[in-house]
Parts: sequence; C-alpha cells; structure tokens
Amino acid sequence: MKENIILCGFMGSGKTSIGKLLAKATGKKFIDLDDFIEEQAGMRVTEIFAAYGENGFRKMEREAVRSVAGTEGLIIASGGGTVLFQGNVKALHRTGGKILLLNVPLRLLQMRLKNDKKRPLLQVPNRKQVIAELYKRRIPLYKAVSDIVIPAAAPPKKVVKRIIEVLEIPEISGKEKKTDDRK
Ligand code: S3P
Repeated sequence: MKENIILCGFMGSGKTSIGKLLAKATGKKFIDLDDFIEEQAGMRVTEIFAAYGENGFRKMEREAVRSVAGTEGLIIASGGGTVLFQGNVKALHRTGGKILLLNVPLRLLQMRLKNDKKRPLLQVPNRKQVIAELYKRRIPLYKAVSDIVIPAAAPPKKVVKRIIEVLEIPEISGKEKKTDDRK
C-alpha cells in the first residue's frame, strides 16, 4: 500500500503511540507532525504558541502538512487540530492518503489529559470543561473528514491490530524485520 495513513483524533487519543507501533508492524516510515514542526522551527510546540500564538502555530502546521503530504507510504500522526482545516485535509488526501479517526470516549480523554503539561490549549484552570467543549465541537468534524473510524479506547497494541485488519495491510514478519535491519 503506497498511500499514506493519517491518524487523526483528539489530544490524548493515542495518535503518536499507535502510529509508532503501526509503522513498526508494517515497516512503514512514521512521521509525527508536531515533532516535524518542532524540528523545523527549532522550538517546542509550547514555545511556538507562546511566541506566535495559535495562529502562528497553525501556519507552521499548514506548511508541515504540505511538506509531508507529498511523500508516499507514510504513517502520519497529525496534531489534534490539523484536520479541522479543510486545506490540510485536501493536501493529505492529494497523494491518496487515508484518514483514520482514533475514536476515544470523552471520559477517558479527560482522564488521560488530567495532568498534561505540554498542550498549550489545556493549560487552563477549568481543563475538564474545556476538553468537553472542544470535544463536542471537534468530534463531528473529525468524523466528517475521516475515511474510517477506529474505536481506540483499547490499549495501543490492540488498536494497531484492528487497523491492520480493517485496512488489510500486510504485516512484516519477524524474519523480514531482521533482514531489513541488516540493510
Ligand atoms: C492541538 C493538539 C496538539 C498540538 C497542538 C494543538 C490541538 O497535538 O498539535 O498543541 O489543537 O488539538 P496532539 O493532538 O498530538 O496533542
């Protein structure tokens, strides 16, 4: 499968950890969009928000999407806000990419994000409520742009298995992995 697989979903839905495992299981290259932005900017996401605001971050995110969307055969973990912008969705679809929504219930996300320190949008006193409001607003948008919705409350390994089954991607066997390592 040459097309990219793009993981989208709310903050804390497991895009990065599931993306990494999925890349390992399928032998594809993994790109985390936030990491890519940080590398390009030479700054952490929190620093980008502090220096340039959310708009500045979204501009960098847009550029990052344009850069990675041109390459084929990638597993891409998007940021929680990436696919809320139609231009980004278009760019990600251009190379035949499939967008997968990692669907995690609100309560579980609120638990996972309870002590988060690195997401600028959540550094607010009424975090639980902010998460609920953002979730309510975003879920329909995520669903609208996704090609497939993956229930993702289970542990990452199980979710990866589910994705591999749904997309019918060939897994690389242990033997092939070893051969690849020696290259
Ligand atoms: C954001 C999610 C973050 C990051 C930025 C904005 C969002 O990514 O891109 O803080 O708008 O939901 P994660 O979903 O990987 O936390």
